[in-house]
Amino acid sequence: MATAEQVKALIRSHSSHDDEQFRSVALQIAAHSARQGNTRLAEELRAHVEQSRRPQAPAGSPRAVPIARPTGELAGLVSASYPQTRLVDMVLSPAARAQLQSVVHQQHQRDRLRFHGLAPKRRLLLIGPPGVGKTMTAAALAGECQLPLMFVQLHALITKFMGETAAKLHLVFDAMAETRGVYLFDEFDAIGAARNSTNDVGEIRRVVNSFLQFLERDDSDSLIIAATNFVGMLDEALFRRFDDVIRYEIPDGAAVRALIENRLAPFQLVGVRWKSVTSAAEGLSHAEVIRACEESARSAVLSDTSEITGVALADTLRARARMRHSNSNPVE
Ligand SMILES: Nc1ncnc2c1ncn2[C@@H]1O[C@H](COP(=O)(O)OP(=O)(O)OP(=O)(O)O)[C@@H](O)[C@H]1O
Ligand SMILES: [Mg+2]
Repeated sequence: MATAEQVKALIRSHSSHDDEQFRSVALQIAAHSARQGNTRLAEELRAHVEQSRRPQAPAGSPRAVPIARPTGELAGLVSASYPQTRLVDMVLSPAARAQLQSVVHQQHQRDRLRFHGLAPKRRLLLIGPPGVGKTMTAAALAGECQLPLMFVQLHALITKFMGETAAKLHLVFDAMAETRGVYLFDEFDAIGAARNSTNDVGEIRRVVNSFLQFLERDDSDSLIIAATNFVGMLDEALFRRFDDVIRYEIPDGAAVRALIENRLAPFQLVGVRWKSVTSAAEGLSHAEVIRACEESARSAVLSDTSEITGVALADTLRARARMRHSNSNPVE
């Protein structure tokens, strides 16, 4: 919301027919809203201001650049989206769900916490094997908190020229303070790994250290999420900097069943013996179980039926498992 001063300034500029001043105050309100995380309002205000600069533009003309869309050099480093994913869409272990719900709760109550001099949890490290929902978690947190998901492109961030990398990192951390969002450093190993690597010249260490310093010093209202599937690469110094570490595992039988029932809800499952279906899925990740479900769904649709049998489902799951084995044992 705008401050009382901003509202007074708006009215003054309106009475004195000072359009430029009016737009400038409106943009200040937009920036203020963006800093508070109300990026949609900010985007709308900006679009209105832009529109008012083009009085002859017909209704429905192209909108202004959304405020949460990174521009300039930042555009190559961070991409923004507004996911609608929610935590209920995810199959999670009770522990991970409780941790994530507490993060969302604290974000919703952040004014109350700040009033008492407390900061909500907002630096999270997500650890787990591939395909268990780490990236999806960042989207779900963005969806729950109605914030943009700012995907930090690590490959663009880490260049051969380390001095450049640190400068880019600086830009990203500046953006966190400027625009509240969920900032995801996916496949974080890329940064974490550099710290321990043997070709660790002073430059690499400086970059990692500067990431840690940024992380520690950062006082923004944004959520910072680092995801990795290679915990061995991360050292103590990294762990200490996060407010919470959330661990993900390959789904157990109950989780596999929940994934299948959710994904195949529009279909009728017939003759499913869950024991044999879940044993066919043993060792598969959430993502692989979902892929197998989609394969079964495709076959059903193409056979003009809304029924999927337990046997067919178990077969596609086993086919998925075989695919994984042939990938993990490449021919020498
Ligand atoms: N816990 C989960 N609950 C529901 N669906 C899931 C879950 N985990 C993964 N999926 C499904 O698998 C897809 C891929 O998962 P995601 O990209 O989040 O995995 P990841 O852990 O980030 O993997 P990687 O380490 O390979 O990046 C999701 O988009 C979703 O469809
Ligand atoms: Mg991922």
